[in-house]
Amino acid sequence: MKIVVIQGPNLNMLGHREQNIYGPMKLEEIHAQMEAVAKQNNIEVEFFQSNLEGEIVDRIQECLGDADGIIINPAAYTHTSIAIRDAISAVAMPVVEVHISNIYRREEFRQKSLTAAVCTGQIMGFGPFGYHLAMISMMQILGEIQAAKQAQEAAKQA
Ligand code: DQA
Repeated sequence: MKIVVIQGPNLNMLGHREQNIYGPMKLEEIHAQMEAVAKQNNIEVEFFQSNLEGEIVDRIQECLGDADGIIINPAAYTHTSIAIRDAISAVAMPVVEVHISNIYRREEFRQKSLTAAVCTGQIMGFGPFGYHLAMISMMQILGEIQAAKQAQEAAKQA
């Protein structure tokens, strides 16, 4: 099983950027923790960060046929990008949206997610721990899909 983690603009600045909102953890540290959980569970995980909308769209599209699920923090594009929303919708696979902060407690322009409605679910407001919750959620979702496929196969053979 393979999960791709996609990080949007300015998330490469974590640890430096607005620590009062996002905390002191660097993106590499968050990814190292996710990698450890993936390893423990025999799951392949790949990380991608970009400040460019089109590159994020490309990376989502590349997941088709290559990955089983996506964990994405579209960052500021959450509130603006119909292109990223359409890409998520197009690949039609489990997608968990993560936000470090609680976007509904912040400025009005952040209180709308264009992407959440096409994701399987959204986790936010728990700081970097949200990425860990997203890994656990994704493993649960993928496990359920696998179990359903196996049950279907067994029913066919019976
Ligand atoms: C964010 C919230 C967004 O509004 C913001 O633009 C970000 C980070 C979060 O993780 O809390 O860059 O997605």
